Amino acid sequence: MNYHIVTYGCQMNVHESEKIAGLLRGAGYESESTIEDADIIVFNTCCIRENAENHAFGNIGALKKMKRQKRGLLIAVGGCMAQEAGKAELLVKKFPFIDIVFGTHNVAELPSLIARKQREKKVVSLLEDRAETEDGAQPYRTSYPNAWVNITYGCNNFCTYCIVPYVRGREKSRSASIILEEVRALVAAGYKEITLLGQNVNSYRDGEIDFPALLDMVASVEGKFRVRFMTSHPKDFSASLVAVMKKHERICNLLHLPAQSGSSRILSLMNRRYTREEYLEKVALLKKEIPEAELTTDLIVAFPTETEEEFEETLSLVEEADFSSAFTFIYSPRKGTKAAEMEEQIAPEVAKERITRLIDRVNENTRRKSERYVGERIEILCEDYDRKKGLYLGREPLGRMGYFAADRDCIGEFVQIRVTRANGISLYGELV
Ligand code: 5AD
Ligand code: SF4
Repeated sequence: MNYHIVTYGCQMNVHESEKIAGLLRGAGYESESTIEDADIIVFNTCCIRENAENHAFGNIGALKKMKRQKRGLLIAVGGCMAQEAGKAELLVKKFPFIDIVFGTHNVAELPSLIARKQREKKVVSLLEDRAETEDGAQPYRTSYPNAWVNITYGCNNFCTYCIVPYVRGREKSRSASIILEEVRALVAAGYKEITLLGQNVNSYRDGEIDFPALLDMVASVEGKFRVRFMTSHPKDFSASLVAVMKKHERICNLLHLPAQSGSSRILSLMNRRYTREEYLEKVALLKKEIPEAELTTDLIVAFPTETEEEFEETLSLVEEADFSSAFTFIYSPRKGTKAAEMEEQIAPEVAKERITRLIDRVNENTRRKSERYVGERIEILCEDYDRKKGLYLGREPLGRMGYFAADRDCIGEFVQIRVTRANGISLYGELV
């Protein structure tokens, strides 16, 4: 029996799909296959923007024929879209061939839902918020040499554009001792990079242990490995976190700090709880202590009421904060959020024009910053082999992808390369 998982969205979902794979393996599905050869197809969905939903809708719809031709094929839909108010009903109405719908809190219950489906004819659905952070699901990891480790679930911030707090529930922190145990086991098993995950890692708390304290403990585990973390909310980014980053060489000096906008008025409408000036103060704090540190960010254009001048403040922030790259998005109204109710939504052609200008500005920055690497020596953690290019690849500490040729399998090794060429966020070089 084979399984196939289709994953949309962020690292949180990527890691959740590893848990789904682990659960399916425990339930008798032996191997991952192509979608055509699968006996169960699981969609792990995202609903952060409308196009993420449209993708999933299209791809689930395309299974209608397969479902008719292949007896016993199971189709399960989980993740954020399944958890969205009213969406599960809409999904099964539109696609009556869906067998199982499961919510963001019910991943571990997938095997029992599959068993129930064997007995019941109608769609089996479970969308219940669970209070506990440990569900016993053992991930079947597919991202070696990196390992994802959840530290928090959910979000309490309610940025006015964002649906995450509604579909992921209130923020919960995992216990520090469980996290440390997991990290120690991963390092002992040979993982070389640990990425701590949370919607807002900076608000982590387990009794007296806050995020800087947790990060300090994780980075103190013995072994040769790197530590990354994401995502940081600027309002909670603190000097004590910078101090921990500075203390441990193995913590990568790359900070993903979503700014969302360069305009204080828009930031206030977004309920981000910082101004442009405060954001830039956090950037300065980081650069003062760790001059080589770099920042990446998320930016949204065409938030309701955004004027041309306010958009230009986002453009100028790219330079002032000196982002090495950025994820850029057109604001997408999400039903149930405050911003979706705001009256002055921006016309699509204005939004398109703004995103094009923003992408150009970001790319310019990325190119300029990457070019400085030519001639330099960098350390790459080799993570894969690109067949088309015939090159190995992996990231340097500050997040750029480095490509190089080698006559042996380097995956999982730290290697040094001398950079000969830069192309956007990618660097090409020779093994030293
Ligand atoms: N529209 C556009 N972008 C969004 N994001 C979150 N919600 C929306 C939305 N409704 C972006 C933010 C966030 C990233 C994960 O997705 O920039 O940081
Ligand atoms: Fe959404 Fe804001 Fe929470 Fe991030 S911090 S998940 S943008 S509500």
